[in-house]
Formats: sequence, C-alpha cells, structure tokens
Amino acid sequence: MDDAMFNLARDAMARAYAPYSKFSVGAVVRGAGGKLYAGCNVENAAYPQGCCAEASAISAMVMDGETSIAEVVVMARGDGLVTPCGGCRQRIREFGDDATPIHVCDEKGLRQTLTLGQLLPLSFGPENLKT
Ligand code: THU
Repeated sequence: MDDAMFNLARDAMARAYAPYSKFSVGAVVRGAGGKLYAGCNVENAAYPQGCCAEASAISAMVMDGETSIAEVVVMARGDGLVTPCGGCRQRIREFGDDATPIHVCDEKGLRQTLTLGQLLPLSFGPENLKT
C-alpha cells in the first residue's frame, strides 16, 4: 500500500453514504494492471439493499475491464479492527487468491495487513467450477 492508495481510501471514506449506521467505510482495490479503484458504502432506507465499500470498489474495477486484484485497502473508524465482512471476503476471492493482501486502516494509518487466505480459509473460488 502506497500513499496514493491510502489517500484514495480516505477520500472514499469521506464520500460514504451512511445515514443509518453512521459508519463510513472506504475501500480501494489495486488491479493487477496497477490501477486503483475506490468505493464507499452506500446505504438504503430499505436496509438490506445497502452496499459495502468493497463491493463498490470491485464494481468500478470490473467496469474498467480489470478482473484481477493485487491488493485491497479497507478504511473505517473505531477501536475494533474493521476487516471486510463475510460477503465481501467472498467478493474479493472472486478476483484474488489466498496471498492477496488486505490492508486494514483507519484515518491515521495502517493497522494490520492480513491475507485473504487468513480471512477466508479453504475458500471456494472460480477454479472450483472447473471440473
Ligand atoms: N461495511 C462496509 O462497507 N464494508 C465492510 O467490510 C463492513 C461493513 C458497511 C456496511 C454498512 O453500510 C456499514 O458498514 C455498517 O455495517
């Protein structure tokens, strides 16, 4: 994670639409081609229709024609470590692998880097559909 990626995650967190939870999240994925894609959480009055920051960032990546994730930054405030939710771990898995680094940050800086394999062990991915 370089400064550009960290700063983009902070900008993304500032754009969060989170009037219900008041919990702003920013995410940035770096594609294998080197480009950065940002997203924020977008909540909805019909609560289950809300969208996580990681999902937004991955959508932007796919829209640009990139389908491989090199690294991920997730940024949120609070005392506890904010790792991607279960659904987003699986979303990252679609375009990453066990070694994909996930940098968990708050506004002050990096808190911890984990691999996708640590967060989603023994995962199911696109390779499993090749029989
Ligand atoms: N949220 C994310 O955007 N990413 C995560 O990995 C954890 C949770 C959002 C969803 C919801 O808008 C708010 O945080 C509170 O759960």
